[in-house]
Amino acid sequence: MAVAERQAGEDGIPPTYPITVSVNGKEHEATVEGRTLLVHFIRDTLGLTGTHIGCDTTSCGACTVLLDGRAVKSCAILAVQADAREIRTVEGLETDVLHPVQKGFVEEHGLQCGFCTPGMMLASVDLLEKNPNPTEDEIRHGIAGNLCRCTGYVNIVKAVQFAAKKLQEDGQGGGT
Ligand code: FES
Ligand code: FES
Repeated sequence: MAVAERQAGEDGIPPTYPITVSVNGKEHEATVEGRTLLVHFIRDTLGLTGTHIGCDTTSCGACTVLLDGRAVKSCAILAVQADAREIRTVEGLETDVLHPVQKGFVEEHGLQCGFCTPGMMLASVDLLEKNPNPTEDEIRHGIAGNLCRCTGYVNIVKAVQFAAKKLQEDGQGGGT
């Protein structure tokens, strides 16, 4: 855990902490307040606005990122908790080609307004990493923490099924 650089004074200035975080394979050093949420660090400090904020109360999943490979709601975590850890955001999914999960959402029309989509895709990557061949029920369970107000989830499930098939065809077998 980072050591505070600045102690809270009588003027109420909150303490700050130095952190080093790997985001999408690139190391970032920053100084953050102890109260800074990871989602605000990702969006406001790093400028990675693909991670959305839908509620700020850990309900919607729009802010989902991968922390050391596991899907987490980044509005439920402090930036200091990400010190010395690895984060992957939606911007880090695509390499030279679309990630199979991204391809699945395109091919199966798994989005409408797209607001939930980055979080939904990262939850799907985590699901497929843990369970490369999920049933429909397992997919619905796996994305249960991510809300979509547009699609009715049917095409999102199809998108994850598409991705599972493509990952197996490509010999990857998992979500990464
Ligand atoms: Fe994090 Fe809604 S913004 S769960
Ligand atoms: Fe609009 Fe999911 S596509 S909220």
